Amino acid sequence: MVLAAHQNPSAPVLSHFSLAGKTALVTGGTRGIGLEVARGLAEAGAKVAILYTSTSPKDAASTASAISSSTGVAVKAYRCNVTSQEEVETTLSLAAKELGEGTLDIVVANAGIASQYAGLDYTPGQFKDIVDVNLNGAFYTAQAAGRIFEKQVKGGGRKGNVIFTASVSAILVNVPQKQAAYNASKAAVVQLARCLSVEWVDFARVNCVSPGFIATDMLDVHPEEWRKVWFSMIPGGRLCEPAELKGAYVFLASEASSYMTGANLVIDGGYTLP
Ligand code: NAI
Repeated sequence: MVLAAHQNPSAPVLSHFSLAGKTALVTGGTRGIGLEVARGLAEAGAKVAILYTSTSPKDAASTASAISSSTGVAVKAYRCNVTSQEEVETTLSLAAKELGEGTLDIVVANAGIASQYAGLDYTPGQFKDIVDVNLNGAFYTAQAAGRIFEKQVKGGGRKGNVIFTASVSAILVNVPQKQAAYNASKAAVVQLARCLSVEWVDFARVNCVSPGFIATDMLDVHPEEWRKVWFSMIPGGRLCEPAELKGAYVFLASEASSYMTGANLVIDGGYTLP
């Protein structure tokens, strides 16, 4: 079992972050964190497939085209519901074929949903909805990627890279919101990544990013006064803009992190420390 070797570790450091010639795919890639991750990967030189469900096909295509115009690389939008294993397999294969001429290098399993219910009140359906997207969907995405990467490597091609968007909710219990299903799904994602990183070391690196509070639509549903509670617990004292995360994803996607697998990169303004 050998982790992919760095092509040229002695080269000047900024070259380690280049994704030129690579093909990437991001689930939940048309808004929030996923959109900024897609933009970051494209800015680093990768062709990017952005997957979406709720955005209209017209808006998704125009988002892809805007990133492509500003970065000069090909960016294409694909509709894909990550809760359908079949749809995920088909979409990843199609994106590899259409964008990467058969090769896929980087897959970011980022799609996720949140809901707030007390532990005593969850219906089976409410609990299952969270697990279906955040854990099962992330697994289907990684598995489809892993199958492509293994085949690629057996055929003499490049090794792959999976990055999960987990959460600090994998590590701590957020308050005042009650979201046991979300927190449990994210903790499972972190352990899933650790397991796959060991199993797949021959053909892929697998890592997680665990963001703290990021200013996206996901947080907008919460009452304003909750922010004061959060800020009192975050040493950084503010929310993070989604674009502040893109460097971390480029780091994990690139050879700058060539010896890193099975890691969980926590980016939370110090929230998990006190
Ligand atoms: P968002 O709500 O803007 O983005 C979520 C994305 O997931 C959307 O593009 C949505 O269409 C997609 N999605 C949802 N269900 C889907 C499905 N069944 N199939 C395919 N795509 C689906 O929220 P945000 O914040 O950008 O979330 C991205 C990821 O970051 C999620 O996994 C979330 O749990 C995670 N996260 C967010 C934090 C935050 O404070 N905003 C903190 C830590 C983690």
